[in-house]
Amino acid sequence: MSTEGVQTIDIQLNQRYTQAIEDILAKTLMNMDKFGAQFPHISLDGKYQLNDNDDWTNGFWSGILWLCYEYSQDERYRQAAEATVASFRERLQQKKVLDHHDIGFLYSLSAKAQWIITGDEQSRELALAAADHLLTRWRNTSDGSGYIQAWGAQNNEQEAGRIIIDCLLNLPLLYWASEQTGDPKYRDIAENQAEKTRRYIVRGDDSSYHTFFFNPETGVPIGGATHQGYSNGSTWTRGQAWGVYGFALSYRYTGNAAFLDTAKRMARYFLAHLPEDSVAYWDFNAPVTASTYRDSSASAIVAAGLAELISHLEDADPDRLYFEKMLATSMDSLMNRYATIGDDTAEGLLKHGSYYVHGGLSPDDYMIWGDYYYLEALMRLARGIPGYWYERNTK
Ligand code: GLY
Repeated sequence: MSTEGVQTIDIQLNQRYTQAIEDILAKTLMNMDKFGAQFPHISLDGKYQLNDNDDWTNGFWSGILWLCYEYSQDERYRQAAEATVASFRERLQQKKVLDHHDIGFLYSLSAKAQWIITGDEQSRELALAAADHLLTRWRNTSDGSGYIQAWGAQNNEQEAGRIIIDCLLNLPLLYWASEQTGDPKYRDIAENQAEKTRRYIVRGDDSSYHTFFFNPETGVPIGGATHQGYSNGSTWTRGQAWGVYGFALSYRYTGNAAFLDTAKRMARYFLAHLPEDSVAYWDFNAPVTASTYRDSSASAIVAAGLAELISHLEDADPDRLYFEKMLATSMDSLMNRYATIGDDTAEGLLKHGSYYVHGGLSPDDYMIWGDYYYLEALMRLARGIPGYWYERNTK
């Protein structure tokens, strides 16, 4: 193909990504009016269920607002985003529903985003205070290995020993805190957690457990278990997606080649197990029938994660072209079959996400994190705006 041919395709693709973003800007303005001071979580009958900043998902709405502001420079998005950061400040002061590992999702996309975009010192301090809070999840074990406990209090017998793959996306807040303060303690814990996840949650065939248990006193590994997946031994697609993106981010911060290799292997597994339309079912081991649910949010996370992963690969890397092609194919399918482009009344951006199929929670709905990662992937592809997991001047 001639160089002109390649450029023509790129321009056309870029126009389509830009059109999709413009559609999202309009929907987000509409949603800002509808949602007021509340936060969208997952949908029921096509309408977002709203909450008062008391769930693990609230940062994604902030992230959407910040991405819309960065792209458009329209002050209305900025004001709405800043209002969410004020709400996150109050939440941390009150320690409201923060007894879990998801602090990075919440504060990277709200306070840290404000710091990255505007240089606001108070936002930086808020994000650092959130990183300190995340450290309270750290559990020492007598073998010296330790881990970040997923949920619940330390004396919660059932939960004390559990780590979770989703936590990989919370580690960037810790890596960043070490960069900002010069104190290695955050980074040491983050790198330890990434390595523990790599050793115990990622399986030899590059699939993954959702969670894994250790003896909370001795640190002795016990075994893998699912929380939202099909079975303990299955591969929950969103867990695999958190792995793809999360290990690429741990590689960015640490330069540890094992993390890059793990991100690549998990990405290859994810992509090799996709159905015909290139958007994942909710679990790679769920029996496939005409009514098997998708999880578009898993594919959106992998799209953004692939863009991150590709940014670390040399031009000559044998995986690079394959990942680029699969990223374009996934985005094409998400935009054409799953997005609400052109439906001006739709609140969500991506249909057919699933939250917790066996728990009977929103198996076929909008998920605010699916919307966020879909927009982040579009922003990365159309504008090179990579979200708020790291400072822009790092590589
Ligand atoms: N981190 C929770 C989920 O992905 O549903």
